[in-house]
Amino acid sequence: MSVQKQDLEFMGIVKNILDNKEFKKIETIEHHGVSRFDHSMRVAYYSYKVAKFMHLDYVKTARGGLLHDFFLSPEDRTNKDRFISTFVHPKEALETAKLHFDLTKKEEDMIRSHMFPINPSVPKYAESWIVSTVDKIVAAEELSLKFKFKIKYVYSLLMLFMFNFIR
Ligand SMILES: [Fe+2]
Ligand SMILES: [Fe+2]
Repeated sequence: MSVQKQDLEFMGIVKNILDNKEFKKIETIEHHGVSRFDHSMRVAYYSYKVAKFMHLDYVKTARGGLLHDFFLSPEDRTNKDRFISTFVHPKEALETAKLHFDLTKKEEDMIRSHMFPINPSVPKYAESWIVSTVDKIVAAEELSLKFKFKIKYVYSLLMLFMFNFIR
């Protein structure tokens, strides 16, 4: 069982989001080499832990963190679509989240500003800064795992080439 699912307080806070039929769709969407659901759960959980440690609003942080990437991109996205999505997905996520959940201004801000500074929307609350920072750390870890295989692959090809060249 994941560390998030073992935390009953956290699971209680995000239960109504996890139970939402539309939100469940992100379980099948690839994101940084994992599912968008797993990415969002990790961002939500670690943001919640930091907010709680700092005596901030950890309930809204958990919810905003979980919804920060709630956009339903099609399976057949091209690289160009993915590139454009880097800049526009916070707006899409906010629109999708507002369709399915009642959000506070602070939760809206967490979703809207999580891609700062790539996206010019500056976080207005400490909790938004937490979600934005945790998202980058979690994404960096996921992307490093995703590309490790490819780096090994490139390295092996390079070794093979070197071997042929030397002998
Ligand atoms: Fe995002
Ligand atoms: Fe994210």
